[in-house]
Amino acid sequence: MRQQWFSLLAAFAGCGFLMATLSAQDAEVVIGEYRVPSEYPPGELGEIVKLGREIVEKTNEHPLSKAYVGNALTCSSCHLKAGTVPHAASFLGTATAYPAWAPREKRVITLEDRVLNCFMRSQNGVRPPKGSQVSIAITAYITWLSTGSPIKMNHEKSLGPNHVKPLKIKPELADAKRGDTLYANQCADCHGKAGQGTSEGPPVWGEQSYNDGAGLSQNDKLAAWLKVAMPLDEANLSEQDALDIAAYVNSHPRPQFVLKAHLPKPERLGVYDW
Ligand code: HEC
Ligand code: HEC
Repeated sequence: MRQQWFSLLAAFAGCGFLMATLSAQDAEVVIGEYRVPSEYPPGELGEIVKLGREIVEKTNEHPLSKAYVGNALTCSSCHLKAGTVPHAASFLGTATAYPAWAPREKRVITLEDRVLNCFMRSQNGVRPPKGSQVSIAITAYITWLSTGSPIKMNHEKSLGPNHVKPLKIKPELADAKRGDTLYANQCADCHGKAGQGTSEGPPVWGEQSYNDGAGLSQNDKLAAWLKVAMPLDEANLSEQDALDIAAYVNSHPRPQFVLKAHLPKPERLGVYDW
């Protein structure tokens, strides 16, 4: 099988030896003009890009990142397959949008800022210092996923070209009670009846989940993400079902976001430490 992919890729792109370091699955991921690059950069840069991917896949366990994580999630819990699944909060082309205007922060932010902010909210943890190894590795990995794509800085919001598209349905139409039944039938097997998570899926509410400052804590954002990402491998919810389930999931308690609690000590906020 491996051999087959190898020759297929070699024939396709004419650089099989370098491509052997990537999985065949990655080499096929394309969204419009954006694609997962066919090879890692040479030398230390390539090593850092690979390190970034490892951290994105194992954020809550990786020795470089776990101290900054306050729940049972990884970046890949929401940016499926390390951000390489088209439309499921993919990282393809993301780096082309930065620096970008961030309405939430009311200032222009870099890609590194955007990465670090996800630690405070979606990961319910502490913002790693700018310039730290974890920060540079993840940012390098995400930037690598924009290889060859032209920069189009986003002056409206801090989102890349392949961000999750909002639903058309109005958030006021959410029916959490209906969502309760749908959750029991379509989600509880993997995420647990009490949202606590199982070996098949991470927690979706409670202490080990994203906090109420995270994008997904807003029903419309969670619904839009569910529509393209869940149930895993067969995302097929209608807009109404996605919204109802989102309202049900978010009706449960989760950690509260208080900005001060998620910032490192002032002297660690901007150091270059490695
Ligand atoms: C609980 C879910 C969740 C987790 C965990 C999470 N994110 Fe996100 N992240 C989101 C959502 C939702 C968005 C908005 C994406 C969209 O609208 O397409 C987002 C946006 C982003 C963006 C901007 C994407 C763009 O298109 O510009 C980056 C970069 C990012 N996250 C990085 C990370 C990193 C790095 C981690 C791990 C440290 C992480 N995220 C963990 C949910 C999550
Ligand atoms: C077959 C098992 C499975 C089913 C069914 C499933 N999920 Fe998931 N879900 C997962 C896995 C696994 C992840 C994490 C993805 C990863 O790490 O690769 C995930 C991630 C999530 C996340 C983001 C991370 C978090 O825990 O907050 C949410 C929210 C979520 N699922 C909600 C749902 C909802 C709602 C449904 C029902 C419509 C559903 N899932 C159905 C397995 C499943």
